[in-house]
Amino acid sequence: MELNVYALPTLFKPKQLIGSTAVVIDALRATTTILFALHSGAKEVVTLLDIQETLGRRDTYPAGTVVLGGERSGVKIEGFDWGNSPESFSPAVVEGKTVLFTTTNGTVAMHAAKSADQVFLACFMNAAAVVEKLTGCEKISIICAGTDGKPTEEDVLVAGCLTGRLQRQSEYRYSLNAQAVAAQELWDSSFSVSRVVGEEPIPAETLAQILRRSRGGTNLMELGLGADILTASRLDSIPVVPRFVDGVVVG
Ligand code: MLT
Repeated sequence: MELNVYALPTLFKPKQLIGSTAVVIDALRATTTILFALHSGAKEVVTLLDIQETLGRRDTYPAGTVVLGGERSGVKIEGFDWGNSPESFSPAVVEGKTVLFTTTNGTVAMHAAKSADQVFLACFMNAAAVVEKLTGCEKISIICAGTDGKPTEEDVLVAGCLTGRLQRQSEYRYSLNAQAVAAQELWDSSFSVSRVVGEEPIPAETLAQILRRSRGGTNLMELGLGADILTASRLDSIPVVPRFVDGVVVG
C-alpha cells in the first residue's frame, strides 16, 4: 500500500495520481468552506478557476437558485454574494442551491488532482470521516493547496493527521513518501501522545493557536478573519466527505 503527500499541487505530475484516490486539502479555507456549504444543504459546489467565468455562469441558472462565493487575496470578489468564510454558507443562504466558487489556491489544487481515480476534499472538520472513507485504499495521494505557491503548515497538519490515523488503522501497512513522513511528524509533535492517538480530544482553541501562526492563518489574522480559523479548528466535527467530479463537488 502506498500513501504520498504533496505539500503543493506543483510537486507531482498528473500521471503520478493515476490509479490513486486523491484527497485535496485547503484547510484555510476553501475545503473547509465547501464542506460547510454542503453540510448546510447546498445542492452542489461548482468550482471555477476564473472570476469572469464564474460571474458569467450565474446567468445560466434560474434566478434564486445560485450563490457566488470565493476570494482573491482572501477578500470577497466584487460582484460575488459571499467571500470564503465557512460560516457565511449557512442553510439560510445555500440550502437546495448551487454554489459557484472560485478561490486563489484551493480550487486550483482540486482541478490539478483530476487525473486521480477519485478525488475527495479534506480539512480538520471532516478528518475522521475522510479516514473512514479511505479505509483499505491501496494508493492514496494527499495534495495540499498551499498559499501562493508556498507550502502552508495548516494544510500539512491535516495531511499529517490523516497519514498518522491511516497508518495506525492499517497497522502501518502504507509505504510513505518523505513528505508524508514529515507531515505525520509535524502533526505528532504538535500534541501530546494521548491527543494524537485520539484518547483525548483536541480542543478547537488548542488547534487554532497553532493555525494562527501558519502562513494561511497569519493572512486571515491580518484581514480580521480570525473567527474563520476557530471554525476550521473544530476537528472531526462534520461527518461529510465532499467528492469532486469534473469540477463539481457534492456531499
Ligand atoms: C485559497 O483557496 O487560496 C484559500 O482558501 C484562501 C483563503 O480564502 O483563505
